[in-house]
Amino acid sequence: MVLTKLFRLDALHLDPRAVEEICRDVLSGKLVVFPTETVYGLGASIYTPEAVRRIYTAKNRPMDNPLIIHISRREHLQEVAAHIPDTAWRIVEVAWPGPLTLVLKKGRAVPPEASAGLPTAAIRMPAHPVAEKLIDCTGPVAAPSANISGRPSPTTGHHVLVDMFGRADIIVDAGETLFGIESTIVDVSVEPPRLLRPGAMPIERITEILGVEIVVTDTSRGYTEAEKALAPGMKYRHYAPKTPLILVEGSGPRGLVEVVEEIRREGKRVAVIVSRENLKLYQGVADRVVAVGSIENLFEVAKNLFIALRELDRFGVDVAVSESFPERGIGLAVMNRLRKASTKIIRLNS
Ligand code: TXA
Ligand code: MG
Repeated sequence: MVLTKLFRLDALHLDPRAVEEICRDVLSGKLVVFPTETVYGLGASIYTPEAVRRIYTAKNRPMDNPLIIHISRREHLQEVAAHIPDTAWRIVEVAWPGPLTLVLKKGRAVPPEASAGLPTAAIRMPAHPVAEKLIDCTGPVAAPSANISGRPSPTTGHHVLVDMFGRADIIVDAGETLFGIESTIVDVSVEPPRLLRPGAMPIERITEILGVEIVVTDTSRGYTEAEKALAPGMKYRHYAPKTPLILVEGSGPRGLVEVVEEIRREGKRVAVIVSRENLKLYQGVADRVVAVGSIENLFEVAKNLFIALRELDRFGVDVAVSESFPERGIGLAVMNRLRKASTKIIRLNS
C-alpha cells in the first residue's frame, strides 16, 4: 500500500504548478495515473527502470506483457525507435497526436522492463492536454492502461480511484476520457503492416492514409499462437467484469430476448447490454437493462462500453447478456473487447 497523492485537474485550464510538481515526482521514480484521449494510463519515466518495473506489480500484470511508450514530440521518436520506415512516417504525420500506437524496432532509450525483452516497442503520442504537458516535461513515459490486470480499462476518475488508490503514487483525475476505448495498435516493423489490436482509430482510416492494405487477422474466434507471440497482451483474459457475460452474435434482438428468457426460467437474475434502439424490447424481459448508445453512433457505444462493464458488477445479477454491434469503424474494437470480456459466445443464425 502506497500513499496516493490525488490531483483534480481541469484539462482546459491546466495549473502549470501542478504539472511541474507531478513532473518532478515522475522524474524521481514515482508512478502516475494520467488521462489520455482513450483511457487512463499508469505511467513511469523510461529513465527510471525501477519504477517501470513497479507498474507490473501495481497492476498485477504478467512481466511478459510489454507497455506502450508515450511521447509528446516527434524528436522523442528518435530516442525510442531505431528504424522508422516510410510507412510509419506517413501515418505519424496524419494520425499523431491521436489514438494510434505503432510497433517499431525499439531505440536505445527503451529499457527492457518496458518492452518485456522484445526487440520492438509500441509507441504512441496521446492527444490529451494533461498527457501532452506532462510528457513534454518528463520525456517518454511507459504506460499500460491504469486498471488492475484483467479488468476493463479505466475511463473515469472514479474507475482509477477504485483500481489504483493505494497502488499508484499519484492519480491525476481529469474527468471522463474522450474515446473510452484503447488505441489501435499497428505493427509497422513488418511489411505489409499488421493490425495487432483494433481500437479508437478506425482501421479504414489508417488504410486510407497509408494507401496499402493492412493485414487484419480474423479475431472473432480467439487468437492464433502467432498473434499471441506478436501482441503478448492477447493471451490473457481481458476487460472482464466479475459477472459472467454472454455475448449473442448473429441474430437480431429477438434471438437475444429468447436467450434472456431461457436464463430467467432457470431462476437467475439477468442484465442486458443493448443499443438504445432496442432498449424497449427488453423492458420487462431482463432484470436490468443498460443502453450503451445508438447503433448509428458507434463512438458513443465505445465510450460507454467499459463504464457499462464495470457497472454490471454493482447490479447483483447472476448473468449479463450483450447484444452485438456492427463491426465497422470503431465497432470492430467494440466487438473485439466484448468477445474478450465474455465468458461465453452464443452464435445464432439470423
Ligand atoms: O490507448 C491506449 O493504448 C492505452 C493508453 C493508456 O495509452 N494504453 C493501453 O495499454 O491500452 P495496454 O494496457 O493495452 O498495454 C499495452 C499493449 C498490450 O496489449 C501489449 O501486448 C501491446 O501493447 N504491446 C506493447 N509492446 C508491444 C510490442 N513490442 N509488440 C506488440 N505488442 C506490444
Ligand atoms: Mg490494458
